[in-house]
Amino acid sequence: MSEPMVRVEGLRKDFNGFWALKGLDFELHPGEVCGFIGPNGAGKTTAMRIMATIELPSAGEVWVNGHSVLQHPDKVRHALGFMPDQYGHYENLTCEEYLDFYARAYRYKGGDRRQRIEAVIEFTGLGPIRTKLMTDLSKGMKQRLCLGRTLIHDPQVMLFDEPAAGLDPRARAELRDLILELSARGKTVFVSSHILTELADICTHVAIIEKGEMKFKGPVGHAQKAANRFTRYRLRVLEAVDKVERFLLEQPFVEKVATNAHELLIDFAADERHFSQLLAALIREGFAVVESRLVQSNLEEAFLAMTKGDTE
Ligand SMILES: Nc1ncnc2c1ncn2[C@@H]1O[C@H](COP(=O)(O)OP(=O)(O)O)[C@@H](O)[C@H]1O
Ligand SMILES: [Mg+2]
Repeated sequence: MSEPMVRVEGLRKDFNGFWALKGLDFELHPGEVCGFIGPNGAGKTTAMRIMATIELPSAGEVWVNGHSVLQHPDKVRHALGFMPDQYGHYENLTCEEYLDFYARAYRYKGGDRRQRIEAVIEFTGLGPIRTKLMTDLSKGMKQRLCLGRTLIHDPQVMLFDEPAAGLDPRARAELRDLILELSARGKTVFVSSHILTELADICTHVAIIEKGEMKFKGPVGHAQKAANRFTRYRLRVLEAVDKVERFLLEQPFVEKVATNAHELLIDFAADERHFSQLLAALIREGFAVVESRLVQSNLEEAFLAMTKGDTE
């Protein structure tokens, strides 16, 4: 496995006796898009602010591309871009001027600076509105500009704090595409949300946090498995749904059956081979089974099961 791009060890944060983070440990690898999921107040923003060197930890350490947030925060800032959940805007700046301001802050000069600004404008698709004032932008456009600013120094690691909040579906889809493109370019992406489904289709990994503690960190598929003891199948039959239901309930590993018109939802507590034997038994019995398919347990269920819906 590659060297981690981000390593978080024993991260704790105390706000006047309240422990917002109670010892987080995790790693992020290059190309990984990791969803940072947890209810409001779980500690997502606090953890990200510490990773971005805006806040100091009470204990523990974070390394970004090998640089410690405590020892070399300046190096961390060059390796990482942080898009906060709220960002101010400057009344009289155009999009271009805004990007220029940040490029100067990273000490880009002359041609290099122009080139970075153009690269970002191209990536974010801000070309047609480059001379517009920031105050005249829609929420989606303003957010793209903020994303552009976060990318101005071409960081290897990107942190997005609740980027999808308040966006319309179209802007959200565009944001997704941009995140996927960053990942395709080998960036490490860490993106928080309190709504899991918002991220499920773009994440390779998921980190689930609750009350300052990590409940799970791993590949998306493992999160689903960890949360689900059962595999759920959907079955369609041409007739006799009631009889099929009764038959199913007498079979091994069938935990629960729900019916609706011509369909049955089966919670099955064994592997696929056993399920194929169940299907064979149904056919032997003469039931008119026309369709059987695995229902991917969605990530939202995994999240709810792991956090038990707890908020503060
Ligand atoms: N500056 C602060 N002072 C005191 N408490 C804070 C501060 N920042 C965050 N908290 C508390 O820490 C907890 C975690 O907050 P936060 O990291 O913002 O959670 P999330 O981003 O997951 O919603 C919350 O209970 C919040 O009230
Ligand atoms: Mg937050």
